Amino acid sequence: MECIVRPAQSADCDHVMGMIREIAEYHNLLDEVKINSQVLRADGFGGDPFYQCLVAELGPEQGDKQGHLIGYALFFFGYSVNTGRIIYLENLYVLSEFRGRGIGKKLMSEVAKVALARGCVEMKFTVVEWNGRALAWYRHLGAQDKTEAGGWHSLELGAKALHRLAGEGQ
Ligand SMILES: CC(C)(COP(=O)(O)OP(=O)(O)OC[C@H]1O[C@@H](n2cnc3c(N)ncnc32)[C@H](O)[C@@H]1OP(=O)(O)O)[C@@H](O)C(=O)NCCC(=O)NCCS
Repeated sequence: MECIVRPAQSADCDHVMGMIREIAEYHNLLDEVKINSQVLRADGFGGDPFYQCLVAELGPEQGDKQGHLIGYALFFFGYSVNTGRIIYLENLYVLSEFRGRGIGKKLMSEVAKVALARGCVEMKFTVVEWNGRALAWYRHLGAQDKTEAGGWHSLELGAKALHRLAGEGQ
């Protein structure tokens, strides 16, 4: 299916936020979404962007639906002490009615081009264990499961732990 993949613009944030809420709902995690489109706009399109985003939009052959956003990939850059520059894929999503038509793969391909242009040697991401379809899909693209292969656990410090560590409130 013909679609155009392009960098997201500030004006896309309302639509991207809608898709972020959809993927959170898909993961049954809607209560955990604390950001809104204003935050998304400020964090991606202000003076010190924290992430980049590519969006997939319907092409001209879709008539009056041209320009509708049907998917996105949100990512940021990081550094590995083992391998150097890396890219972290935070979210990849294609609207359900457009899945299975090559759009997710096209988004991934464009993220890979951005990664290589920035000198990255790896793309990292996590997938929840029950999402077998996505796990199989990423494996099909050549991804290796580091939890299975090396027993890596994905950890995080939540806001309370962060404040406690920073010595606040003592
Ligand atoms: C995962 C997701 C992004 C994939 O996007 P998509 O547009 O449906 O995928 P595509 O149509 O581009 O996939 C095409 C390729 O994947 C292969 N494929 C499709 N489903 C597959 C599956 N379940 N297992 C393995 N390969 C699969 C196709 O054969 C094709 O490969 P080829 O080009 O080598 O022939 C999409 O299904 C989605 O948004 N899912 C819900 C959210 C999600 O789970 N996101 C990822 C985890 S955060």
